[in-house]
Amino acid sequence: MSKEIILNAFEMNSSMHNSHGFWKHPESKRHRRYKDLDYWIDLAKKLEKGKFDAVFFADVLGIYDVYRKSKEPSIRDGLQVPLNDPALLVSAMASVTEHLSFAVTVSTTYEPPFGNARRFSTLDHLTKGRIAWNVVTSYLPNAARNFGLQNMIKHDERYSIADEYLDVSYKLWEQSWEDGAVVEDIENEKLVDPEKVHEINHEGHYFSVEGPHLSEPSLQRTPVIYQAGTSERGREFASRHAECIFVGGPTPERIRYYIDDIRKRAESHGRNPEKIKFFSFLSVIVAETTEEAEKKFEEYNKVWSADAAKAQYGASGYDIAEYEELDPDLPFEYTKKTEGGHYKAAALTKDAPKKLTVGEVLNRFESLDRNSIIVGNPSEVADAIQFQFEESGVDGFNLNHLVTPGDLESFIDLVIPELQKRGLYKTEYKNGTLREKLFPEGKSTLPEDHPGSKYRRVIEKQQ
Ligand SMILES: Cc1cc2nc3c(=O)[nH]c(=O)nc-3n(C[C@H](O)[C@H](O)[C@H](O)COP(=O)(O)O)c2cc1C
Repeated sequence: MSKEIILNAFEMNSSMHNSHGFWKHPESKRHRRYKDLDYWIDLAKKLEKGKFDAVFFADVLGIYDVYRKSKEPSIRDGLQVPLNDPALLVSAMASVTEHLSFAVTVSTTYEPPFGNARRFSTLDHLTKGRIAWNVVTSYLPNAARNFGLQNMIKHDERYSIADEYLDVSYKLWEQSWEDGAVVEDIENEKLVDPEKVHEINHEGHYFSVEGPHLSEPSLQRTPVIYQAGTSERGREFASRHAECIFVGGPTPERIRYYIDDIRKRAESHGRNPEKIKFFSFLSVIVAETTEEAEKKFEEYNKVWSADAAKAQYGASGYDIAEYEELDPDLPFEYTKKTEGGHYKAAALTKDAPKKLTVGEVLNRFESLDRNSIIVGNPSEVADAIQFQFEESGVDGFNLNHLVTPGDLESFIDLVIPELQKRGLYKTEYKNGTLREKLFPEGKSTLPEDHPGSKYRRVIEKQQ
């Protein structure tokens, strides 16, 4: 059987995620409806109809305020604000679906691990094993100040914190409760066997946690771990912990480079590199005919917000407004190091297929980037998706929302059947937890070669 595309809907519990200015489009409903539970329940049903593997909830903990050193452009254009908590949507969406999974973003920089571990155990129980955690280290200076820090913790140190955070989490999920700890022994008046519930007594550099974990083990114990880091340190972290990894890049070759690099690193950590799934972005405008799709593209271009796009670029730590003062013919270069995320910064320099000028970079923000959106009729769109899938070596995509819910409905009605016809997309869901669906040869818990599993073995040795 040929390899099938894994598909996540890229979402945010917000008025708008990456579709800058699209709230002005007459068919956009999300900025009015994202706070309405019915909106998310409908979305879950639609996604399951389209056999999506998961809905992936991005999240941030502050306002983008690097661009023009102000929060005003982001707030005015609804750039990821207003923004509600994504985890609180999951139970309702799970209750109307059977197979759709949920990846929820939580930062390791600001929320302590004990409560987070309980949150994911709870969600894993309630969804019967359909939960993933997108581990992020957060790139917004405003987020730091929201959590009591004057300055952001430095980029690489954020990953050191994340490493220890994950170790604490594995101890809670894998080590604290033995299988069969809930004995329900009426005769001996014992619901839980205290011998089988252990403190973790973690004393590390950043965290101190006694335990035991408050939740009993869920089907997956550790949620499926997602991550997206392009930097050296980000890739190192991903290769140790992540089971699903996002790689961005302007060309299939660049994406393949990152995949190969991360696989090599994973091997050096004793992991089977073939058992990691890779994802990249997908943006699609589809209609019955090419002409209609092109017309939509033009309409979207009219409502595009260059200001919101520039504000979002502030995730890199660079203020693009500073370049507006420069000679447009100068080569586009960074003159200082920032503590922001490297991914966005690299896209305009070392990941770009050619050296760009200041003018070319500034121009990119002014309109919808045609190179990063597939526009066409169903067969043209499927051709382009197939090309990206086969050339880059990814296992799947995060599908961006554009004008919602219309574009998602068109994708499900027009593109999914075309991909299915080509044998590139499932016609039925597999049974089991998210981890079993992604890795059918494995189990619902972490595989033996994953670093989280070593904590499980500690218990086995003690017995
Ligand atoms: C598909 C994708 C989704 C992401 N989602 C989030 C998110 O929801 N919240 C967040 O703070 N960062 C998110 N990021 C940013 C990453 O967590 C990370 O900060 C970024 O890729 C830079 O990492 P690096 O500095 O290691 O390259 C996402 C990145 C990608 C590519």
